[in-house]
Amino acid sequence: MDFKQIDKFAKEMIFEAGKRIRDAFSYDLVIETKSGANDLVTNIDRQTEVFFIEKIKAFDPTHKIIGEEGMGENVNSLDGPVWIIDPIDGTMNFVKQHRHFMITIGFFVDGIGKLGYIFDVMREDLFYAIEGEGAWYNDSRLRKLQPLNIEEAVIGINASWVTPNKKINHEKIIDLVNTVRGTRSYGSAAMEIAFVVSGKLDAYISMRLAPWDIGGGTVIAKEVGAIATNLKGEHFDFLSQDTFIIANPSIHQLILDNYIEEI
Ligand code: IPD
Ligand code: CA
Ligand code: CA
Ligand code: CA
Repeated sequence: MDFKQIDKFAKEMIFEAGKRIRDAFSYDLVIETKSGANDLVTNIDRQTEVFFIEKIKAFDPTHKIIGEEGMGENVNSLDGPVWIIDPIDGTMNFVKQHRHFMITIGFFVDGIGKLGYIFDVMREDLFYAIEGEGAWYNDSRLRKLQPLNIEEAVIGINASWVTPNKKINHEKIIDLVNTVRGTRSYGSAAMEIAFVVSGKLDAYISMRLAPWDIGGGTVIAKEVGAIATNLKGEHFDFLSQDTFIIANPSIHQLILDNYIEEI
């Protein structure tokens, strides 16, 4: 398989989709809710996913596609070439803030991440990686992450972690928040992952993410030495939803051991 050629195809497709999304702001957005009042989807999320599916099927009809909005076929194995697509990650930011939303795409072959992309649509910034060749932020190569202490870390974490909840001992998370240098919450998992792989954050944790939130990001993570697992420290389950942590390698296990206690 010619990954350079697939990479070129993927980038052209992502830039074109980004332009279509930016242009779509001048039309009416149709906003609907999915599982609940804060789970949003728009006509643009769906149209963008369809755009990707049509492009990929024209490129190679044997490639399978997993997309958040379910506009493609049902995929229940990662055998062969599989694209994992989130057409807009951070739909609430898209609707409310008109910024801080990403296109994120991973290209996997037999379950192994080969190409990964996180594209900040409004800034036109691309984070990407080719397995074994390295990772880039636009034209600059991303460096391997440098070691640091937990006290120097800035972490991506949602405010709901520090309130009593059914999944995690929040008292320990309060300890974590009091230990690190700072916390941030951006509202797009892909954006937070992009920040971890480029050293702008040192960890990001989530109680529940789907394969399309992290598929592209995990490919980039591997190239810079970031560690991405579920909160048990195991491989993330790419065929369902799972807990998630991505972190600088010097603090990944330390966070799991000292601050994460699943209930
Ligand atoms: C969501 C965002 C959000 C995260 C949610 C995701 P969506 O993706 O990444 O930051 O907290 O768990 O579902 O629905 O906007 O693509
Ligand atoms: Ca969604
Ligand atoms: Ca998402
Ligand atoms: Ca989405």
